[in-house]
Amino acid sequence: MVDAIEGDEYAFSPTPSVPRRTSKLGIVGAGAVGSTMAYAALMRGAARTVALLDVNKAKVEAEVLDLSHGIQFMSMAEVMGSDDVSVMADCDVVMFTAGAKQKPGQSRLDLAEATISLVQKVLPGIVEVAPNAVYVMVTNPVDVVTYAALKISGLPPSQLFGSGTVLDSSRLRYLIARHTGVAVQNVHAYVAGEHGDTELPLWSSATIGSVPILEWASGDGGPLTREVRDAIAREVVESAYRIIEGKGATNYAIALAGSRIIEAVLKDERRILPVSSLLDGYLGMSDVCLSVPSIVGSSGVRERLEVPMSSDELMGMRRSAEAVRSVARRFGF
Ligand SMILES: NC(=O)c1ccc[n+]([C@@H]2O[C@H](COP(=O)([O-])OP(=O)(O)OC[C@H]3O[C@@H](n4cnc5c(N)ncnc54)[C@H](O)[C@@H]3O)[C@@H](O)[C@H]2O)c1
Repeated sequence: MVDAIEGDEYAFSPTPSVPRRTSKLGIVGAGAVGSTMAYAALMRGAARTVALLDVNKAKVEAEVLDLSHGIQFMSMAEVMGSDDVSVMADCDVVMFTAGAKQKPGQSRLDLAEATISLVQKVLPGIVEVAPNAVYVMVTNPVDVVTYAALKISGLPPSQLFGSGTVLDSSRLRYLIARHTGVAVQNVHAYVAGEHGDTELPLWSSATIGSVPILEWASGDGGPLTREVRDAIAREVVESAYRIIEGKGATNYAIALAGSRIIEAVLKDERRILPVSSLLDGYLGMSDVCLSVPSIVGSSGVRERLEVPMSSDELMGMRRSAEAVRSVARRFGF
C-alpha cells in the first residue's frame, strides 16, 4: 500500500500480515494405515498441516519425526502429533483409522464390537474441537462403524461417511486391466455394497475406454466371460485376506485411496467415488451405510448416483444391506 506523507514524496506503510487459513488434515490412529496415509497425503501435497492422534504416545511422536524429516523432499507442510485430542483442533478433514487390525482369518465384521466402543470413546472429543471437519471413517467393519459413528456424533450424513469400496474398486480395476492388458486408468468400474465379503462389482455399468465391459472383445485376455468376472470378483474380496496373511496389514493402496478422498474434499473436486454413506431411499434401500458411486466435495457427500443396475446386482446390493444392517443391530445401532 502506498501512502502520501507530508515531507516525503511517498512512504510505504506495510500492511500487517494477516495469516491465511491453510488446510489441515487430521488422522486418528498412527498405525500401518494412518501413518502411510499421512505419508501419501504429504507426498501428494494434499494438505499444509497433517496432524496425527494416537493413544500410543511414543509411536505417534516417532511417526511425526520420521515424516517431518522427509519434508525437504515434498511440498512444504507441517506434521504434528499427540495423544491429546487438542492436536485435531480446526481440522478440515479427519480420517479415522484407529482400531484393532484384522488378524489372519478374521473377517472385518469380527472387529465390530471393539471398534464401535473405540469410536464411542474417541469421536465425540474430536468433533468438539473440529466441528466443521468432514469425517471419513476407515476403521473396519467400515460400513457398520460409519453408521454407528453417525449416531454417536449426531453429524449430518453428508459430513461423515466411510472410505467404503474406494479401495476395492481400485483392486477391481487393477485386475480388469491385468486381464485385458490396457491401462488401469482407462477402466471405469465400481465395487458397491459392503466393504467386505458381500460386496459386488457393478459389471453392467462398467466400461473400458467407453466400451461396455460386457461387450469387451479386444486386448490380451479375451472377453470378460461370466467365469472370468466371477474369478475377478472373488480375487477382489480375497486380496485383503491374502495381503494380511503375508504382511500383517494392508497399507499402501488404502493410503492412496484415502488420499484421493482427502483431495476430493480439500480441493472440492467433486469426484465420483464409491464411498459408504447413509442411504435414504436409494433404489429402495434406507437406514444403512453402503457404498455407491457418490459425488464427493468440500461439504462431503453431495449426492449419490442412481447407477442403472441389473436385477442380479440389485439383489446383491439388498443382500449386502441386510448383512451390514444385521451386524449394526447386533450392537444396538
Ligand atoms: N476401509 C478400508 O478400506 C481399510 C483398509 C485397510 C485397513 N482398514 C482398517 O483400518 C484399521 C487400522 O488398521 P492398521 O493396520 O492401521 O492397524 P494398526 O494396529 O497398525 O493401527 C491402529 C492404531 O490405532 C491406534 N489406536 C488404538 N486405540 C486408539 C484410540 N483410542 N485413540 C487413538 N488411536 C488409537 C493404535 O495405537 C494403533 O497405532 C483397521 O480397522 C483395519 O481393518 C480399513
